[in-house]
Amino acid sequence: MTDRILTPTADPEELQTELSLRPKKLREYIGQQKVKANLEISIAAARKRGEALDHVLLFGPPGLGKTTLGNIIANEMDANIRTTSGPALERPGDLVAIVTNLEAGEVLFIDEIHRLPAQVEEVLYSAMEDFYVDVVIGQGPAARTLKVEVPRFTLIGATTRAGLLTAPLRARFGIVHRLDFYDVDSLEVIVRRSAEILNIPITLEGSKEIARRSRGTPRIANRLLRRVRDYAEVKREGRIDVEIAREALHMLEVDDYGLDDVDRKLLTAIIERFSGGPVGLNALGSSVAEDRGTIEDLYEPYLIQIGFLQRTPRGRVATKLAYDHLGYKLGATRKQEELF
Ligand code: ADE
Repeated sequence: MTDRILTPTADPEELQTELSLRPKKLREYIGQQKVKANLEISIAAARKRGEALDHVLLFGPPGLGKTTLGNIIANEMDANIRTTSGPALERPGDLVAIVTNLEAGEVLFIDEIHRLPAQVEEVLYSAMEDFYVDVVIGQGPAARTLKVEVPRFTLIGATTRAGLLTAPLRARFGIVHRLDFYDVDSLEVIVRRSAEILNIPITLEGSKEIARRSRGTPRIANRLLRRVRDYAEVKREGRIDVEIAREALHMLEVDDYGLDDVDRKLLTAIIERFSGGPVGLNALGSSVAEDRGTIEDLYEPYLIQIGFLQRTPRGRVATKLAYDHLGYKLGATRKQEELF
């Protein structure tokens, strides 16, 4: 269930609806005001000069719209976009093939850019900075290196973990923006916009309820909207109001703070098995059978943001807010009452 709420869906029909919800232009993009304002200037200036936009690095937790923004930037520049990802570029030749086939002004979007293999990253340096790549022709003593020119393109790199980027790669991006979790008001507008596109009748209070429980993340808001619609269609006539939203979210085990069963499992493990922490990520991961990267990328940023979890040099610590929310007395390792 958690997977269906947090991760991009494998269901092609749902993927299609998700794509239809993505804004195409900057003015349709809701929230992230500072990023938007800065990008507007960068794009307008590049267009005025008739140049390719400087390379852009977008980072932040999953589901906040890095890919959407990448597509919007290309759109606003009237440029084609080629999309790939760090792990897909296995060998230097993979990248060379792509960049040498770009046309001037085109956008190359590399998702999960922190996962580029080191030798591929080396090739990217010269492509980004001096617009050429070294191509090795032949093998052994007869091998020669040929400098091949690359057209002026714009690289857009996206990553959930800016801290994992090497300094030389990071330094080659002229425009760097961090996407933050959305506030409830922005998410509410996103929910209403999506409901309108999908033809779902929803009250203001209904959209607010979904927005409030979406962990600051548009992808989750849109996912919850679809799940609540399912519930509303089966239980009522398809209209979403606040009661229907609450009932459906309760059934999905999404609580008042938008936490799901994995979030609660994580916090409960810290409280019950590690006396509230500090506990290292590896120990925590094996205790709840989740990969440490998933905890780091997907779960802990929001728990930290709402003040339920603290990251200390000695490990993760559950805060008083987390104890209160889950119904534990501070310092206790046993629950006092049931949450649901
Ligand atoms: N759908 C997903 N993210 C969005 C955003 N930031 N603005 C508008 N619609 C969205």
